[in-house]
Formats: sequence, C-alpha cells, structure tokens
Amino acid sequence: MTGQEVQPDAGRLTERPSAGDPLSPPPPLDGREVALELDSITCRFGELTAVESVSLTIPAGSRFGIIGPNGAGKTTLFNVLSGELRPVSGTVKLFGHDVTRMSAPERVRLGMGRTFQVVRLFNDLTVRENLTLAVMGLSRSKLQLLRPWRTYRAHQALVETLAASFGLGGRLGRAAGELSHGELRELEVLLALAVEPKVLLLDEPAAGLSPAERVDIQSLLGRLDPDLTIIMIEHDMQVLRGVVDWVAVLDHGELVTQGPTAEVQRHPRVRELYLGSAGAHDRDEPSRSGTS
Ligand SMILES: Nc1ncnc2c1ncn2[C@@H]1O[C@H](COP(=O)(O)OP(=O)(O)OP(=O)(O)O)[C@@H](O)[C@H]1O
Ligand SMILES: [Mg+2]
Repeated sequence: MTGQEVQPDAGRLTERPSAGDPLSPPPPLDGREVALELDSITCRFGELTAVESVSLTIPAGSRFGIIGPNGAGKTTLFNVLSGELRPVSGTVKLFGHDVTRMSAPERVRLGMGRTFQVVRLFNDLTVRENLTLAVMGLSRSKLQLLRPWRTYRAHQALVETLAASFGLGGRLGRAAGELSHGELRELEVLLALAVEPKVLLLDEPAAGLSPAERVDIQSLLGRLDPDLTIIMIEHDMQVLRGVVDWVAVLDHGELVTQGPTAEVQRHPRVRELYLGSAGAHDRDEPSRSGTS
C-alpha cells in the first residue's frame, strides 16, 4: 500500500454485496452428513441488522473458518448458533435437528461446544476445578451448594486426560488467574472439549497471543479428533490457514463469499475487505489488530 492512507472504513466494502457470491457454492458433502445448517439467519439489535439472511451448510468433520472485518456479525452469528441469541428469522439445524428455539444448555447436550472472544473462566479456581465444572456442566454455585468435592472424583480421570493431552497436565493445581494468556486460551478450548462436543465453535482462539503461543494453539487444534466439526472465527491468516480448509466471509452481516481457504484469500472482494483496495499488495495480516 504505497503512499496510500488507510481510511477509517478501509476494512469495509465500498459496495454492499446483496447476497452470497453465486459462484461460491457450499462445501461438497463427499458422503458426510451435515453437522450445521443455517437457513436465512437474520439477527437485529434495534435498528441495526447484525446478521442478514445468512445461509451456510457445514459438513461433519469440517474445519470451517469465518472471517470478516470488525462488526461484520461473526460473533453474533456464533451467538445464534450456540443459543445465546434468538434470530428474528431463519433456522439452525444441528445434525438435522431444528435447534432454533432451543436454549444454549439444550444445544450443549446435542453436541455443541464453544469458546468466547473474551476468555470466560473462573480465575480464582484451579485448572482442575475449572475443568471439573466444565466436565460436570455445572456452575460454580451449584458445585459449592449441592455436592461435596469428593463426589466429583469419578470425573477426574477425564479431567486429567484432557489436561495431559494438551500440555496442561502440570498446571492442574494452579489457579487459572496465574496462567499465561496462551495457556488460558488453551484451557478455554479444553473447557469446551470437556462436554465432548460434536461441533466446536472457536471465537478468535489466537487473539492476543504471541507468535509462539499461536503455534501452540494451532498445534492443539491440529491434534483434535478429525470427526469433530470445528468452526473458527479468526483474524490471523496464518492460524486460519493452518487450521481450516474452507472459509466463509461476512461483511455488514451478509455472506460475501465462501470457498477453499486459498481461493477465498485471492477473492477480489476479500482483498478489498482486508487491504482497503483490490489491487493492493498481498499480505498475511488483515488491516486491524485481530484482538478485541
Ligand atoms: N448485544 C448487542 N447489542 C447491540 N449491538 C450489538 C450487540 N452485539 C453486537 N452488536 C453489533 O452488531 C454488529 C456485529 O457485531 P459482532 O460482535 O457480531 O461483530 P464481529 O464480526 O464479531 O466483530 P469483531 O471482529 O470486532 O469481533 C456490530 O455493529 C456490533 O456493534
Ligand atoms: Mg467478534
């Protein structure tokens, strides 16, 4: 971008797309069942349409990325998928079940796990305690009020296996608040895995990590069960390329295009979104920090 000022709205398309690129069909099923099907999802906050008529078909076992500039509607779409938000219209199907009206806990029971853009765990509890709560699917208040700690012993094998398999085996006794940012992000992924999901939603798992920590989280994700369907929002193109093979692009709440990762990166609209001009030089990083 020689001699070119990045405008405040450089991450926005100059022309709003009206629908998904007709040249970008959904990923081929290749005999796989459909893990998640979104049909015409629209979500509004008052006057603002955060997600507009988004339809996606995500095959089981996919490594599926969602990208787009700040405010594109990515997290809102995740909230609709996980049941934190109800869309004003459209349907969400999880392995063929219509879950649009189901609560988040009901969806967890059907196999939906997720992490959040901002880390959500109990800093004053140990890694073991955080993982045990997640395995039990309980809140801290239920742990304290309803059952003594020893009744949770049956779950410790799973907690220890999870922690050991992803390098946190030596940290079980440490308070979560004492972990590095990279370890916290890993713990978040483990918490989501503790409910043994079939579909895992990861909202910017590498946000705020150092280059070395990004490699660690990428390798953790690379070691997950290939049958697990992973849908990941990520701004870091290197992490994205290392984990996903298919990418959907959102802007202004709408699906701009989707396709194999390398092809999507070359798409003129995507280059415009990330570079502020379609003819700009290739680069790995989008024109914003990726942390929020
Ligand atoms: N609870 C809310 N109330 C009102 N507006 C909201 C709410 N949540 C999100 N929005 C708005 O909806 C739009 C989409 O936000 P969203 O968080 O989904 O974007 P995003 O693509 O995840 O962005 P980022 O890359 O910054 O995380 C934004 O304009 C945002 O301000
Ligand atoms: Mg977001």
